[in-house]
Amino acid sequence: MTAQVTVIDHPFVQHKLTLMRQFDTSTAKFRQLMKEVGMLLAYEVTRDLPLKYEPIKTPIAPMNAPMLASEKKMVVVSIMRAGQGLLDGILELMPSARVGHIGLYRDPSTYVAIEYYLKLPHDVEHRDILVVDPMLATGNSAIAAVDRIKELGPVSIKFLCLLAAPEGMKHFHEHHPDVPIYTAAVDEKLDEHGYIVPGLGDAGDRLYGTK
Ligand code: URA
Repeated sequence: MTAQVTVIDHPFVQHKLTLMRQFDTSTAKFRQLMKEVGMLLAYEVTRDLPLKYEPIKTPIAPMNAPMLASEKKMVVVSIMRAGQGLLDGILELMPSARVGHIGLYRDPSTYVAIEYYLKLPHDVEHRDILVVDPMLATGNSAIAAVDRIKELGPVSIKFLCLLAAPEGMKHFHEHHPDVPIYTAAVDEKLDEHGYIVPGLGDAGDRLYGTK
């Protein structure tokens, strides 16, 4: 199976990402940009949603018009805490999507992802899942989140991030070659602390003003 990576290179996404990368972008601005970019990325990720045709009446004439076909709403699973920033924008586009949360923290010495929270809709086995985390760095959190969701047998899974490191994408696809990655950019590398270079720093700290 060829692992799929889609780089969403829309000019608005790239422009907003550049603003987010800049070290002097304020917390308020960073949070706003993350939300805007979340909505734009979701627009691209949902391009293949099936449509059905329903008879409607316009003020002029009847017609068969396209509407979203999915009976079961998509579930967006946010990897806490930085995933929340993207999630807020995604929900602007898909206000009735179902939402799950998975809490993972990185062990600071091993970078292994440790789960501390999980809450998902009860019927994940009938649903398409979009897992979101702005930074695909080592890949450990994304792998752990998808491992956990796969145990519940969903219809499909996609992974959406803002920035990916080549190492993280490779690692992720070694574990989950069937899960496509969507990202706004693939950066150069990881540094010795597991940060993406050039990256944008710690996405959670920049979103919430912690440091
Ligand atoms: N998580 C972040 O928030 N930033 C990185 O560069 C890597 C992981």
